[in-house]
Amino acid sequence: MTTGHSAPSPMKPRIAATMGKAKILMEAMPFIRAFHGSIVVIKYGGSAMVDEGLRHSFAGDVTLLSLVGIRPVVVHGGGPQISDAMRRLGLEPKFVNGLRVSDDETIKIVQTVLAGEVNPDIVRLLIGHDARAAGITGIDGRLFTAEPKDPALGYVGKVAEVDPEIILGMFEHGLVPIIAPLARGRDNRVYNLNADTAAGKLATALGAKKLVYLTDVEGIYRDLNDPTSLIQRMTLSELRDLLATGTINAGMLPKLESCVTALESGVARAHILDGQIQHSLLLEIFTPEGIGTMIYQDGAEI
Ligand SMILES: Nc1ncnc2c1ncn2[C@@H]1O[C@H](COP(=O)(O)OP(=O)(O)OP(=O)(O)O)[C@@H](O)[C@H]1O
Ligand SMILES: [Mg+2]
Repeated sequence: MTTGHSAPSPMKPRIAATMGKAKILMEAMPFIRAFHGSIVVIKYGGSAMVDEGLRHSFAGDVTLLSLVGIRPVVVHGGGPQISDAMRRLGLEPKFVNGLRVSDDETIKIVQTVLAGEVNPDIVRLLIGHDARAAGITGIDGRLFTAEPKDPALGYVGKVAEVDPEIILGMFEHGLVPIIAPLARGRDNRVYNLNADTAAGKLATALGAKKLVYLTDVEGIYRDLNDPTSLIQRMTLSELRDLLATGTINAGMLPKLESCVTALESGVARAHILDGQIQHSLLLEIFTPEGIGTMIYQDGAEI
């Protein structure tokens, strides 16, 4: 007896697998539509900046974002690289409350390492992935103007003014801006900025839709010692409440304080993501589930 159906051809499993990929692409479509033309500021730090595999995963993600019409801006750190360079020169890095004491000699090393090594290395990495990346420091085009944060810290700046014109010009030329966290002081000296804070200020000045922190933890934990306490989503008010408990410290504090000010000034969402997860940027931006912690405006639809 014949069923009228033909025997499965050897092509079918392959087509089925390919159809699965089409489904993934279709799932990404509403996100591509929603974010087309919008600015996403990404703070690139932690081990995603050092591990070779993760560096390439990051570069691929940023390239894809720019290819689908999103405007990524990368602000990078470089603390470990600066400390290594100092030690090679026989200098011991000094920190006060997590901030690098930056005397004349130190700020020269900071500038050399950030503008001369870390920034061009990221630009080269991205260009190798076909993104039209271009590197600048926060000094260029008067992007960041700083004031001394605390005279005891030397050339550690707090951002006093942001002029985002240079970034807008780069977008017009289809470039992906890669920014080293340096600033010109009102005294015309070079200042070292906290990259987390700089990214937040930039997101505000650019009217970015998203501010993303790629870091070394999965997201925000209610209790850092309890891995089950990861917060997947929280509103701006909930974040303010969490900060008021005083349980957030170390490197997470400048990120979350920056998230609060960025959201207060209109940035729609902020994300804390694990840069140790391959393609964490794509997973967060293009999938409904997302990963890491998302902070959103009170009352906003998610
Ligand atoms: N409640 C919390 N949830 C998550 N992380 C927290 C919390 N409180 C403090 N942290 C710390 O914040 C750290 C992330 O900031 P950190 O400055 O170390 O990384 P980064 O800024 O991504 O990298 P880099 O400073 O090298 O650019 C985490 O590794 C964690 O130890
Ligand atoms: Mg940090």
